Amino acid sequence: MKRNILITGGAGFIGNHVVRLFVNKYPDYNIVNLDKLTYAGNLANLKDIENKPNYTFIKGDIADLEDMRRVITGHKIDGIIHLAAESHVDRSIKDPFTFARTNVMGTLSLLQAAKEYWESCPEKYEGKLFYHISTDEVYGALELTNPEGIPAPFTTKASAGEHEAYGSEFFLETTKYNPHSPYSASKASSDHFVRAYHDTYGMPTLVTNCSNNYGPYQFPEKLIPLFINNIRHGKPLPVYGKGENVRDWLYVEDHARAIDLIFHSGNVAETYNIGGFNEWKNIDLIKVIIKTVDRLLGNPEGHSEHLITYVTDRLGHDMRYAIDSRKLQSELGWEPSLQFEEGIEKTVRWYLDNQDWMDNITSGAYAKYYEEMYKSI
Ligand code: NAD
Ligand code: DAU
Repeated sequence: MKRNILITGGAGFIGNHVVRLFVNKYPDYNIVNLDKLTYAGNLANLKDIENKPNYTFIKGDIADLEDMRRVITGHKIDGIIHLAAESHVDRSIKDPFTFARTNVMGTLSLLQAAKEYWESCPEKYEGKLFYHISTDEVYGALELTNPEGIPAPFTTKASAGEHEAYGSEFFLETTKYNPHSPYSASKASSDHFVRAYHDTYGMPTLVTNCSNNYGPYQFPEKLIPLFINNIRHGKPLPVYGKGENVRDWLYVEDHARAIDLIFHSGNVAETYNIGGFNEWKNIDLIKVIIKTVDRLLGNPEGHSEHLITYVTDRLGHDMRYAIDSRKLQSELGWEPSLQFEEGIEKTVRWYLDNQDWMDNITSGAYAKYYEEMYKSI
């Protein structure tokens, strides 16, 4: 079936994997990637598919309602996968307004432009879908009730053999929203607007909330690529607080596969949590990264451990995220394809093999901004 799909934020980390998957897997779909190309957007992420006949790139700002009207109407868009956002918690602490503008007003502009166009079509909302990509951070923070870790009650292929859970609770689709950072507050607000457009106007919408992603093409302000690059250059690894915070990690291509499945088979107005039951304490994860980078660089074991540097904690640092994704697994049959140790190995290799990609980001005009962000390190 021919479809015209708008993917927003396709030049960013998760977006490029989603765009690549859709462009390659669905030659009959027209894929329109709309991205503002902020500091986090990089068209080098999409070099391998940029000339495909079913792919179009548009530089645009989701918060510009007129532009969104033009794009959605001009390309007769029938499906939207909305990833564009300001995504980094540390930046949101320094500059919350940018997060409100893009994540809240941007999402609202996109919703309104889609509503106007879809309501003007003879078939109205039939065959249409607005799929909003959200985060587990909107649910707030879980407690560390098992600080030493207990065997995880649920596992997937993403979890290591004897994987641990650091608390007794997990985020469910029904967990009450309780965001703490300006980033998560802006994402929560956008989620509410998406659901409001369904409940008020009958727009077919879907929301998914995913845990921390890792993999190729992640901007090196986020923990994993930042630390891989710092180890390579013998630079300090700034661990916030005591390194005891827990995150639940999923390989980015497994997130993209979930998005594909949910876009095509998910039930309208539903929420699905996406995650692999793969909790790691930051400090344990950091030690795995150090070990992997040292091994691949031919350094003796433990060579880079001295780079670990405990720094002032992130303000309002959420202690633990842990997603319960059993609904997605049981209703739609999704499961992660990659075991965590395999995923980390693949990821470290990718960053070491693509040093040019990294250097393009960490050098030149950009570097000034980057240093400004991390001047306390
Ligand atoms: P990212 O920061 O790597 O990419 C965001 C992209 O959005 C960039 O290409 C940027 O240029 C674009 N963008 C920003 N403002 C824009 C605007 N006003 N108009 C158009 N484009 C704009 O982010 P990511 O990590 O790929 O996250 C993508 C989405 O997934 C976000 O909505 C995020 O909240 C969500 N999410 C991320 C994770 C994660 O671990 N990275 C986990 C769960 C959910
Ligand atoms: O949970 C999903 C979220 O995951 C997404 O919604 C966000 O867009 C994404 O950025 C990510 O948020 P986190 O804040 O969890 O990711 P980050 O990589 O910034 O940090 C991971 C953990 O590592 C967190 O506990 C903070 C810590 N950290 C991070 C950095 C950058 C450090 O200790 N040192 C660092 O330098």
